[in-house]
Amino acid sequence: MKLLACMWALWAFALCSIHATKDICNAKPKDLPLEPMCIYRNPDEIQPNKEPENIPVGTNPRVWELSKANSRFALSLFKQLAEGKSNDENIFLSPISISTAFAMTKLGACNTTLEQLMKVFQFDTIKEKTSDQVHFFFAKLNCRLYRKKHETTELISANRLFGDKSTTFNETFQHISETVYGAKLMPLDFKEKPEASRITINEWIANKTENRIKDTLPEGSIDTNTILVLVNAIYFKGQWKNKFDKQNVMKLDFHVSPTHKCPVPMMYQEKKFQYAKIPEDKVKILELPYNGGDITMVLILPIEGATLSEVVANMNLKKLVGWLHAMKETTVAVQIPRFRVEDSFSLKEQLTKMGLEDLFSPANASLPGMVADAEGPNLFISDAYHKAFLEVNEEGSEASAATAVVATGRSLNIFREQFVADRPFLLFIRESSINALIFTGRVANPCRSS
Ligand SMILES: *[C@@H]1O[C@H](CO)[C@@H](O)[C@H](O)[C@H]1NC(C)=O
Ligand SMILES: *[C@@H]1O[C@H](CO)[C@@H](O)[C@H](O)[C@H]1NC(C)=O
Ligand SMILES: *[C@@H]1O[C@H](CO)[C@@H](O)[C@H](O)[C@H]1NC(C)=O
Ligand SMILES: *[C@@H]1O[C@H](CO)[C@@H](O)[C@H](O)[C@H]1NC(C)=O
Repeated sequence: MKLLACMWALWAFALCSIHATKDICNAKPKDLPLEPMCIYRNPDEIQPNKEPENIPVGTNPRVWELSKANSRFALSLFKQLAEGKSNDENIFLSPISISTAFAMTKLGACNTTLEQLMKVFQFDTIKEKTSDQVHFFFAKLNCRLYRKKHETTELISANRLFGDKSTTFNETFQHISETVYGAKLMPLDFKEKPEASRITINEWIANKTENRIKDTLPEGSIDTNTILVLVNAIYFKGQWKNKFDKQNVMKLDFHVSPTHKCPVPMMYQEKKFQYAKIPEDKVKILELPYNGGDITMVLILPIEGATLSEVVANMNLKKLVGWLHAMKETTVAVQIPRFRVEDSFSLKEQLTKMGLEDLFSPANASLPGMVADAEGPNLFISDAYHKAFLEVNEEGSEASAATAVVATGRSLNIFREQFVADRPFLLFIRESSINALIFTGRVANPCRSS
């Protein structure tokens, strides 16, 4: 059986964007004057890291730092989302697309607006020089992530600014946005045609995500006061390096909670994978690689008797990295469901709770770097939307997805390590050499859509 995973995430609204050109992939910091309008200095001296760092070969140390900052943000946003949802709801998002988009707003931000961006996105945890140059290193990170690796694996990021045609935007801001993030500004008539503009933006997003993400901006999200809309779309489609055998799919119960179970088509294979069982943290961790190298799906399953919420409560970047490092090549009997998850939420609500308040406040937002005219509109971010989708299914046999083939005569080898994802688990889709978390999610109820 083949496994096809497609997903993307998308978010939108109010100011900037992403994508890297060939030039920037080879550029040096001095080649590009990326001076932001305001600079934030962390008042607390960052303590030099005492633990030896194993920066992967061929990785720019600053790109590495940025990637760690992004991962810290990814986990804290994930925890924030988990707190607001009941345990039987799925969660899925692309934290890197959120970080990238908000890094662009940082370019035009000053005062407490800038400070809060630095803190919430954890850019203040990286070395000062890097934090000024965050845009440059984002571009380098994007070069690394989005270069083509294999004809069956696609990871595409697309970005665009949509600006009100009667507003003049700062040239420097537009220039950096285009060079670093590949985001050209498209003028739209928000004042006279807000609804038509909203549809144009949603169509652009649908087009960039192979029609997987539609209607991102809800009705009424664009009005006559809209000045700038920022869109970042990300799309991933990968094939397992080790495909699951179609003959080995069977309907099994997924235990959403101790009192609620439902049937899912379970895929099965027994092979050597990177795997670890960590009893002290009550988790099993398994990594399934996609074709073409560095992109993998990491699954984290609580061991029998533990709940996913206790695992999440105990998890931070250090723990996660420790678990990843503990993995060893092991023959594992793997059972994971075929599933589909879709999620969307307002970033304004989540990020405000995390401390990003001023950016969304008409009274307090400071974004002087974005518009050319200092007398111009007082810019603030009215809202930001994120929408993401993941499908893990049998390539070429969607029609049979609902009717699972029943395999008979199979019994799990009891001496094998087993990874049976028949209860809520976490997943990360990452670039494994640098541990960039491209997507993060919780699969708590795969039955609804499988
Ligand atoms: C930053 O805040 C100070 C005081 O609140 C204000 O005087 C200054 O104009 C602000 N600077 C910018 C660039 O917004
Ligand atoms: C997106 O738009 C381009 C041209 O505007 C078109 O060629 C392409 O087929 C579209 N893709 C999708 C998925 O609609
Ligand atoms: C603006 O900032 C002030 C001072 O920090 C705060 O009291 C006020 O609630 C903020 N306003 C908004 C709309 O967030
Ligand atoms: C545009 O922004 C740059 C800083 O990024 C600033 O130096 C320049 O003065 C701004 N231009 C206008 C017209 O405001």
